[in-house]
Amino acid sequence: MTGQIYLPPSLRGFEPKRMVFSTWVDHLPFAYDLVETIRPKLVVELGAYNGLSFFAFCQSMLENNIDGVAYAVDCWEGDKHTDAYDDSIYKDVQNHAREHYRGFTYLLKMFFNEALQHFDDDSIDLLHIDGLHTYDAVKEDFTNWYPKVKPGGIILFHDVMAKIKDFGVWKYFEELEGQHDEVFKFYHGFGLGAIRKPGGDREPNQLLDIMFSKDEEDQNDLRKFYTHASHFLEAKRQVKRFKPKETEGKQGGQGKS
Ligand SMILES: C[S@@+](CC[C@H](N)C(=O)[O-])C[C@H]1O[C@@H](n2cnc3c(N)ncnc32)[C@H](O)[C@@H]1O
Repeated sequence: MTGQIYLPPSLRGFEPKRMVFSTWVDHLPFAYDLVETIRPKLVVELGAYNGLSFFAFCQSMLENNIDGVAYAVDCWEGDKHTDAYDDSIYKDVQNHAREHYRGFTYLLKMFFNEALQHFDDDSIDLLHIDGLHTYDAVKEDFTNWYPKVKPGGIILFHDVMAKIKDFGVWKYFEELEGQHDEVFKFYHGFGLGAIRKPGGDREPNQLLDIMFSKDEEDQNDLRKFYTHASHFLEAKRQVKRFKPKETEGKQGGQGKS
């Protein structure tokens, strides 16, 4: 164990601007910190749905003055795991992007395979794969998009711990763990996996150094840290929801009305 103290930017008061229902909620502080630390020029998300993960990446880019662009690719029709949904989801995502992240976010309303032609090989700094979660689908997404990732770029996979229905990301990610040198996995929530594509220059970087170290104790500390960070964010959100309004409790002595 290196015993280094890790104090990421999400600790300095990250307040997600987008809060919608999604199992991605457990990974928001990590998403924010990862973007801050790798300072991506190009982010691509495969599977944005109502935008929880995508807008966490975007918020970090904006608040940390990162000069890059972010693309969300989705047919915005749903799949067999989300079920089909109507166009109101896309419209809501579009409005949120326009209101908060105009000028550097792009929504590609199409199938992943159609979007491939819009990206050069070795160009993506951060790729997030979160489409259909069957083994075959995630394998196809990774195989098609891996060449588009820059050497040294990061690929994230959601749901690497979800062993439900016909989800197979966990199985495919286990195979990738055997094939890649720089691999890391969060176990909390539905799990989030990360792979660093070999190559590229890597400056010393506290977060990546811990994630891709071979030191299990450091890695477990990082897992604990982000499990607590996501619980803390959720607790803060609950407190806000139930906080009495300014005027409440101010009439009468001792807060009694
Ligand atoms: C699990 S959801 C994404 C969740 C999202 N990242 C979040 O933060 O909550 C998966 C999305 O991928 C989309 N999708 C699945 N397969 C697709 C494909 N081949 N092409 C385009 N979109 C696809 C679905 O429409 C759905 O909106």
